[in-house]
Amino acid sequence: MSNKTIVKFTNLSKRFHDLMAVNNLNLEIYEGEILGFVGPNGAGKTTTMKMLGGLIKPTSGKIEIYNHNGDLIDIKKKPADLFKQIGFLIDLPAFYGQVTPNQILRYYCRLLGLSKDIIEKRVDWALDVVEMSKWKNKIIKEFSKGMVQRLGLAQALVHDPDLLVLDEPQTGLDPSGRILVRNILQKLKKMGKTIFLSSHLLYEISEVCDRIVIINRGNLIAADTLINLEQKMTKKQIQCELFEPLEFSQVDKVVNEIRNKIEQYCENGAKNFVTYDEVLPGFNIFYNGTPLSLKKIHEILSIDMRLPIVGFSKDRTSRLEDLYISLVDEDDNKNGGELKE
Ligand SMILES: Nc1ncnc2c1ncn2[C@@H]1O[C@H](COP(=O)(O)OP(=O)(O)OP(=O)(O)O)[C@@H](O)[C@H]1O
Ligand SMILES: [Mg+2]
Repeated sequence: MSNKTIVKFTNLSKRFHDLMAVNNLNLEIYEGEILGFVGPNGAGKTTTMKMLGGLIKPTSGKIEIYNHNGDLIDIKKKPADLFKQIGFLIDLPAFYGQVTPNQILRYYCRLLGLSKDIIEKRVDWALDVVEMSKWKNKIIKEFSKGMVQRLGLAQALVHDPDLLVLDEPQTGLDPSGRILVRNILQKLKKMGKTIFLSSHLLYEISEVCDRIVIINRGNLIAADTLINLEQKMTKKQIQCELFEPLEFSQVDKVVNEIRNKIEQYCENGAKNFVTYDEVLPGFNIFYNGTPLSLKKIHEILSIDMRLPIVGFSKDRTSRLEDLYISLVDEDDNKNGGELKE
């Protein structure tokens, strides 16, 4: 990832009647990064991406995209060839059932004005990237949802754009379909592509994205790396997973013992800073967030108390979920759902 900006949104807003779908968005996308765009239903993700694609016009504000000379150009000026540098997958891709990927992709290349001699190469390359080569001449009617989604990706990248704008490319896919798309995204990143990716799947976002932007009711509420976002959480939580569940009669005693021993390393005044979770099985602990405290708590549980610990962390997805929910709730409480001018 470089620090070179390739897309810049400045005070970007979109109003649909009395609804501010996107409200004064300021955001930059950097070359080579995968930028995750997350937010609840109706937050404004697709609207933002559609404005970037020129499918709908902003109510106010500016979108600039770099050109090949490295200058940022306002997309209102409709610079020639600009959209050839971008590949879009917005909404579920829909293709006629009776045609083949080969026909669709060739048609698309011709629309983009690619010369005949490179079209064949481009089509084969795009199908190879999305692992669909063997389906090149099969009719789309026979395809699964995951295959149609991957063909949509092939269409977005067949002209070899520098930037890919992908609106929920994994939604509705089964786990193996999601893994396949995740691998494709990682492959594209290695090729140096910049990817602006919206998703509801926080696990997928945390696996592939360099930075995350959270949007709620049109407002940008966070934009940072996952690690920096986690550090902004006021409560630091760890999960201590045990090899086997505690006996029911032991739970209160053990929890109280842990509380007494680690109190000094936990948040001042936090109630229930140690709780037992029988499903995990293990303990949820809210501590004061310093690395030294984490080390001490670990020593107390594993060495002093000799608890059979098999894991001592909180997985990234649940941390990201906590953060996401706390930021969205905070924004909802602050703005009370009122329309903002
Ligand atoms: N053409 C339109 N006319 C009126 N309202 C619209 C239009 N398009 C979107 N909206 C509204 O704008 C808001 C933002 O919608 P958008 O589709 O951008 O959300 P999203 O973040 O993509 O949500 P989802 O996660 O459900 O895809 C929603 O309240 C939606 O109903
Ligand atoms: Mg959407």
